[in-house]
Amino acid sequence: MFALVTSVRLLFMVSMASIFASPWAYSAALPVARGAAEDPSTDPFYQPPAGFESTAPGTILRERSIVASFFGLIPDPVEAHQLLYRTTAINGSAIATVTTIFKPPFAKTDRFISFHTAYDSSATICDPSYNYQLGSVQTDLISSVEMFIMEAYLLLGYIVASPDYEGPDAAFSPGHLEGMGVLDGMRAVTNFNETLGLSANPMIIGTGYSGGAIATGWAASLQPSYAPDLDIKGWVQGGTPANLTATMLYIDDTAFSGFLPAAVAGLAKPSAYGAELSSVINSVLTPLGKSKYEFAQSNCAVADLLEFPEMSLLSTSIQTLGAGLIRQPTVASVLNQNIMGLYKNQTPTAPVFIYHAAQDEIIPYADASTLVDSWCSYGASVNFTTYGNGGHVTTEIVGLPDAVQFVEAAFAGEATSGCHRNTELNNTLNPIALGVELEPILSELINALAIAGKNDENIIQNLNVLKNSI
Ligand SMILES: *[C@@H]1O[C@H](CO)[C@@H](O)[C@H](O)[C@H]1NC(C)=O
Ligand SMILES: *[C@@H]1O[C@H](CO)[C@@H](O)[C@H](O)[C@H]1NC(C)=O
Ligand SMILES: *[C@@H]1O[C@H](CO)[C@@H](O)[C@H](O)[C@H]1NC(C)=O
Ligand SMILES: *[C@@H]1O[C@H](CO)[C@@H](O)[C@H](O)[C@H]1NC(C)=O
Ligand SMILES: *[C@@H]1O[C@H](CO)[C@@H](O)[C@H](O)[C@H]1NC(C)=O
Repeated sequence: MFALVTSVRLLFMVSMASIFASPWAYSAALPVARGAAEDPSTDPFYQPPAGFESTAPGTILRERSIVASFFGLIPDPVEAHQLLYRTTAINGSAIATVTTIFKPPFAKTDRFISFHTAYDSSATICDPSYNYQLGSVQTDLISSVEMFIMEAYLLLGYIVASPDYEGPDAAFSPGHLEGMGVLDGMRAVTNFNETLGLSANPMIIGTGYSGGAIATGWAASLQPSYAPDLDIKGWVQGGTPANLTATMLYIDDTAFSGFLPAAVAGLAKPSAYGAELSSVINSVLTPLGKSKYEFAQSNCAVADLLEFPEMSLLSTSIQTLGAGLIRQPTVASVLNQNIMGLYKNQTPTAPVFIYHAAQDEIIPYADASTLVDSWCSYGASVNFTTYGNGGHVTTEIVGLPDAVQFVEAAFAGEATSGCHRNTELNNTLNPIALGVELEPILSELINALAIAGKNDENIIQNLNVLKNSI
């Protein structure tokens, strides 16, 4: 799931480095001159027009251009659009969410990337579409890293779309909701072809890490049945939370337990499993549990982590069922619907690049490996690359050249078929691995690697620094 925090000062260094190291510093300075974007909960753009329920999934309901002013390294403020589009709640009813599309100069127009950023929170104020308009200093390391990764794809000439895949309620973790949100976002971009100059039926690759890999893995799982019309050429997913129950148990009572109240809040949203789950949750929460749960409904990932550090969701101080919570029939049923790879008819048909740190401290490696076995047994084409020397954060960065190499091969129809396991031990990033033009971006990522530390050894320490400074 899962964004990671570092100290504000270190982040400021990363962000400032991007401004000062850049020959295009003016584009990073633009947000200062702009008024604040409007909160999604009051911005009318997010409200679907009357009658939208009868439109097809992926229909564009509203469109606008925005100034995506947070970009530090690309030569010009990139052309950016937002679309409100129709998608589908878990119970099958129509809902609407937003995607943000970035189009670089000299873009390739027969393809695009769907980039699923790890926003990892259950409040609409954390929607990517809102934060892309702000241009503020990024508040956590993963957001900064993902911004640079997105810039790398733009500089490689790809149109990039980044959907609010958690939907209108900002539901963090329900896989089916997020998967449909991704797929309908792809349809909406495809339907926007005239403005983008995109060819009809473009080739698409979806990518996401950590929380973004929930969206990616479920989009990959559901695409053959929900959106067979899309020309998907591949999927890239790293640090994948393949089994939600196992992920919850893994991070419970750790520095990262703050993701759990947000995940429960996400599962219990109306567009997710609210009808069955919400009354169960409300009936078992203690007053302390209720305050944590309510906090997670209106705060983003960093604040969530600081609100529930080294605390246990399975403690009777939080909810009366204690360790029995995950065996409560409604809870167990919801959790079971969030395990990837259980059913043959949820197997990706396009090739998948899956990568994971062997020592990932946030998302268990074993469940990603189980997912690979399962998809492979059902005939998927998977390249599973294990990073032997890295943590959750550093592997997102070190894996980028391999991810890009896969993307380029998959668009060319040259991704290897069948299943392959592969181990990488090198934990450094070559600054010119993606060519000299991308050296400024990779240099930023090398700075981020230094901040995270070998095997993420600085991450928890940085969490504590942030905590002590509040
Ligand atoms: C856009 O897509 C539509 C529907 O697929 C197609 O009819 C139209 O020709 C496309 N426009 C362009 C400019 O490719
Ligand atoms: C998912 O994780 C739970 C908790 O670790 C485990 O009991 C279950 O067997 C796992 N399911 C699969 C399909 O791996
Ligand atoms: C179905 O989903 C819609 C959209 O999120 C929600 O408003 C509605 O309450 C849900 N209905 C039931 C019965 O779950
Ligand atoms: C799988 O990906 C890794 C990392 O990019 C690459 O080194 C390896 O050659 C790939 N394996 C196959 C069989 O394509
Ligand atoms: C690891 O990768 C870096 C950057 O590509 C390279 O300079 C170095 O030689 C590699 N180390 C090993 C042991 O292969």
